[in-house]
Amino acid sequence: MCGIVGAIAGRNISAILLEGLKRLEYRGYDSAGMAVLNGETGQLDCLKRVGKVAQLEAALAGSPLPGHLGIAHTRWATHGKAEQRNAHPHLSAERIAVVHNGIIENYTALKEELSADGYEFLSDTDTEVVTHLIHREVMAGKGLKEALQISLTRLDGAYALAVIDQQQPDLLLATRMGSPLVIGVGVEENFIASDPLALLQVTDRFIYLEEGDLAVISCTEVNIENAAGDIVQREAQRFEHGHDAADKGEYRHYMLKEIYEQPQVIRNVLEGRIHHGHVLEQVFGSDASAVFDQVKAVQIVACGTSYNAGVVARYWIEKLVGIPCMVEVASEFRYRKTVCMPGTLFITLSQSGETADTLSALREAKEQDYVAFLSICNVAGSSLVRESDLAIMTNAGPEIGVASTKAFTSQLVVLMLTTLVLGRRYGLEGEADFVAQLEQLAGLTEQVLTLDSQIQKMAEHFVDKHHALFLGRGTIYPVAVEGALKLKEISYIHAEAYPAGELKHGPLALVDEDMPVVAVAPNNSLLEKLQANLEEVRARGGKLFLFADSKAQVKPGDDLELITLPDVPTVMAPIIYSIPLQLLAYYVAVLKGTDVDQPRNLAKSVTVE
Ligand code: G6P
Repeated sequence: MCGIVGAIAGRNISAILLEGLKRLEYRGYDSAGMAVLNGETGQLDCLKRVGKVAQLEAALAGSPLPGHLGIAHTRWATHGKAEQRNAHPHLSAERIAVVHNGIIENYTALKEELSADGYEFLSDTDTEVVTHLIHREVMAGKGLKEALQISLTRLDGAYALAVIDQQQPDLLLATRMGSPLVIGVGVEENFIASDPLALLQVTDRFIYLEEGDLAVISCTEVNIENAAGDIVQREAQRFEHGHDAADKGEYRHYMLKEIYEQPQVIRNVLEGRIHHGHVLEQVFGSDASAVFDQVKAVQIVACGTSYNAGVVARYWIEKLVGIPCMVEVASEFRYRKTVCMPGTLFITLSQSGETADTLSALREAKEQDYVAFLSICNVAGSSLVRESDLAIMTNAGPEIGVASTKAFTSQLVVLMLTTLVLGRRYGLEGEADFVAQLEQLAGLTEQVLTLDSQIQKMAEHFVDKHHALFLGRGTIYPVAVEGALKLKEISYIHAEAYPAGELKHGPLALVDEDMPVVAVAPNNSLLEKLQANLEEVRARGGKLFLFADSKAQVKPGDDLELITLPDVPTVMAPIIYSIPLQLLAYYVAVLKGTDVDQPRNLAKSVTVE
């Protein structure tokens, strides 16, 4: 998804902007650009390139953009193709430059109005209207801030915007509504970005702008007005993750690094959350106990991988707590008429906390009578967290690979903690045993990672395949869905997951020697039933790839490859069995030579609908 970086400083900022864009590459984009006010010539110079930031970097090597004030952007096409003229920044009359994340919904009407006023549009974007609106106001004699404020009143939609004016070398303007934006506070220099990761090379102090905030930034000052136009003080917060978090280290890809971080991530998630065999429920927020006391049902809403984690939680909550748990993808929930049962806790699950559909679903749900809104999220200052009553962080650290891995397992661990705090209100016995099992998870995850080379070998069977089927039952069904999602996201192999019991209701028709079937079968009460399904596959010439534990009574053969996992407590199996499927997808993608960390057409954080 699009990324924004901006800087105002006493030093040359173009290298800072470029580094910022590189750090945002993980979000997915198709073009990049930069506009810098040249202190010597007084001109606003702009350079854009389709493709990777490296292409922009190469262009900058030939035509540097020195200056003390500038804005930069990575674009993910929404309006208009990935072409140089559609890349940001967009300029009006060589004077106003704007970068934008989000979507301006009424841009067509504004474009007509501005065209009638003589403005010529050079791009197909929605963003360009913002540039010309501001220009029209400054030409009418308004100051830059006022011009921006007036322009914002004309916009319908979501935005994070950064604005500079060739005639205001000491001002950088930033505003947000529906798209994240932070100010990086430096020493006599200040920065902005859509994600703090972009600025960790220059600062670790950030002001998280709230919805509707408009910031006027100079080298030495940050003045913020809220949506009501009141001057507000927003404290800078220290960024809590390490400086090397956005670094691949010894790993070939971020995704592999993140898969391998999972034992530590699980320890981080549990740290400070359990004590003497007990989950500390105040970690969900100071009002959490009173809220949990009222909960009679749970509604989970999320997208993508986070949704799959939510489906696992449904099995856990209904089995262990014994109350209804509904799970729905956010893009469906937000647009349909939903019924809120009395006493329902609304949970949003999100790695980024900025997914547009999840955020909108939360806002829709607020119109109804939910007990409270709990966000389970990986980004502390995110919109979702700020707009929820209760929040608990997944503490996975920045996840850079577009295909989510450690965020998923960390969400599962937090969902298990949630299940336990709800369960204790409904007579769930043996909380200390569950906590002990959670304490074993990191070690078990380490054991599973030692299967790496076996899984790498298994991956060779998939390289020339076009389709794959994943099967699981019970809590492992959503794990199979997540395994299929990983494979399709990064290897571009069409993969589908089915509850194994549905096999003969359709997918069995597809099974032949060209359709690898991945079965995930920890030794739980459903294993026997799943084994019958596996025989159905074998009988049709299908090749099986089975992940099971030592108790599974199957004999490997030409038609069956088995990877044996350590024995794990049944309830915890979804967490452990996700990991070999992540590795399988990873190695298939590596063998196919795809762009593992930035798969085509996908974005890390989908902040537009
Ligand atoms: C995108 C990402 C997925 C992620 C989904 C939801 O599609 O590529 O990896 O699962 O968004 O994102 P969230 O940040 O809300 O978990």
